[in-house]
Amino acid sequence: MNILFMGPPGAGKGTQAERIVDEFRVPHISTGDVFRAAMREGTPMGIEAKKYVDQGLYVTDEITNGIVKERLEQPDCAGGFLLDGYPRTIAQAEALDEMLAAMGKRIHHVIDLKVDRNLLLGRLTGRRICKSCGSTYHVLFNPPKTEGVCDKCSGELYQRSDDSEEKVGTRLDEYTTKTAPLLEYYGQKDLVRSVDGEQDIDKVTADISSLLRGKA
Ligand code: AP5
Ligand code: MG
Repeated sequence: MNILFMGPPGAGKGTQAERIVDEFRVPHISTGDVFRAAMREGTPMGIEAKKYVDQGLYVTDEITNGIVKERLEQPDCAGGFLLDGYPRTIAQAEALDEMLAAMGKRIHHVIDLKVDRNLLLGRLTGRRICKSCGSTYHVLFNPPKTEGVCDKCSGELYQRSDDSEEKVGTRLDEYTTKTAPLLEYYGQKDLVRSVDGEQDIDKVTADISSLLRGKA
């Protein structure tokens, strides 16, 4: 199954993707995670991406499309994939359509996580992520058993550099102007299924799972 997760920063895309890929056994492809890994490693692409990510702005379509094309050609995507945070612009959506058509594939489901803008800032500033395995926590809504330590691998938890109040404002504006129009793009293809992302984490997972299994 080929799935897209959409939703504003902090909607829960990464949190839900971690769970859904376990259930559906497809790789989780987060362009944000790819950029952060490249930035940590200091690769030429990471150095270029950092100029945008650190400001809360979108990386160029050219760089982003290149990364996704390379990733979708890997053998582990043959049986399906979950794209988290890509595409984010109409140009990216068109490029994805071309890539998939060339591979004889298509998107089966677009899951849109709906969360009111006024909840997103608190979610993002309270987020903590494991340095070792990338698991996501929240200091209030999904705290680890021991503060600052990952439940799954005992790795150290850190806060993303773009999760400051100032950067979150820019990220939300990018989403509204460049990504929200994609709902119309995929809506015309009758692919969008909205999920109430304000419910508790387990309930959101259950709703997504039902939709993907065709039970909702
Ligand atoms: P990316 O890493 O994708 O960031 P984002 O889209 O801003 O989304 P987030 O990862 O912040 O939020 P999320 O929806 O995954 O929420 P999460 O599950 O963590 O991209 C980062 C940057 O990379 C971009 O700004 C851009 O620069 C660049 N980039 C990436 N893709 C690009 C593209 N395609 N084109 C161009 N540039 C690109 O949850 C958030 C918090 O809320 C967590 O603490 C979690 O525990 C908590 N939480 C989750 N669900 C719930 C719930 N139901 N109730 C209560 N708390 C919850
Ligand atoms: Mg994420």
